Amino acid sequence: MKILSKLRASIAVSVIMIFSAVLFVDINEARAEYGDVVINNYSDAAGMRPVVFPHWFHRIRFRCKVCHADLGFKFQAGGNEINMVKIIDGQFCGACHNGDIAWSVENCNLCHSANPKTPTQVHESTVQKLVQPTGTPKK
Ligand code: HEC
Ligand code: HEC
Ligand code: HEC
Repeated sequence: MKILSKLRASIAVSVIMIFSAVLFVDINEARAEYGDVVINNYSDAAGMRPVVFPHWFHRIRFRCKVCHADLGFKFQAGGNEINMVKIIDGQFCGACHNGDIAWSVENCNLCHSANPKTPTQVHESTVQKLVQPTGTPKK
């Protein structure tokens, strides 16, 4: 009986440990959301962490046209040859991250926030996540 309750206790402990491990992983994972774009054409090579661009965060605040027409962002992850000279000059991210519309360029780590060596990519596809089969339409 004693052995059994010891066993139960140790199982309970491991269950708690597994749960907290899962929680811990989830907290870390939450930093990258669907549709986030990782931009890493130059960052790693320059010894900076790659950039995470939170697309949804921006999309709910601005029309597509603001960035993809007016500011000239091409619709392609990593397709824009962005560098810090251009940003400080007010192009690309620098059109807003100038301490006026949004916080300024000094906040390196807020943009350069990806794990080192993360390649340029779209983190999951928003299209695949949003468009779910809805079954046969009702007549
Ligand atoms: C508003 C977002 C943003 C902020 C803030 C920012 N960067 Fe960048 N940075 C970028 C983007 C986007 C790129 C292009 C990433 C790539 O293709 O690797 C980049 C590229 C770079 C590069 C490689 C290209 C180059 O210009 O040499 C370096 C080095 C760099 N950043 C350093 C910094 C430092 C240092 C700071 C803080 C003083 C900073 N960045 C702040 C967005 C930002
Ligand atoms: C605040 C600026 C901004 C706004 C607003 C914005 N985008 Fe983007 N978009 C970007 C940037 C930056 C990238 C990545 C470009 C790069 O890596 O050089 C991107 C990439 C993309 C891509 C290619 C990557 C992917 O997810 O497949 C598509 C498609 C796209 N945007 C569509 C849209 C649509 C549709 C809207 C409006 C609902 C929109 N964007 C609004 C800045 C913006
Ligand atoms: C059209 C304007 C605009 C452009 C272009 C833009 N941003 Fe932003 N960004 C904003 C605004 C506004 C905020 C919110 C600032 C605040 O909360 O004070 C923001 C916030 C952010 C945040 C923080 C998101 C959060 O969860 O708080 C990151 C990271 C970021 N931008 C990265 C970038 C990068 C990288 C680029 C270029 C690839 C970029 N932004 C281009 C307007 C812009």
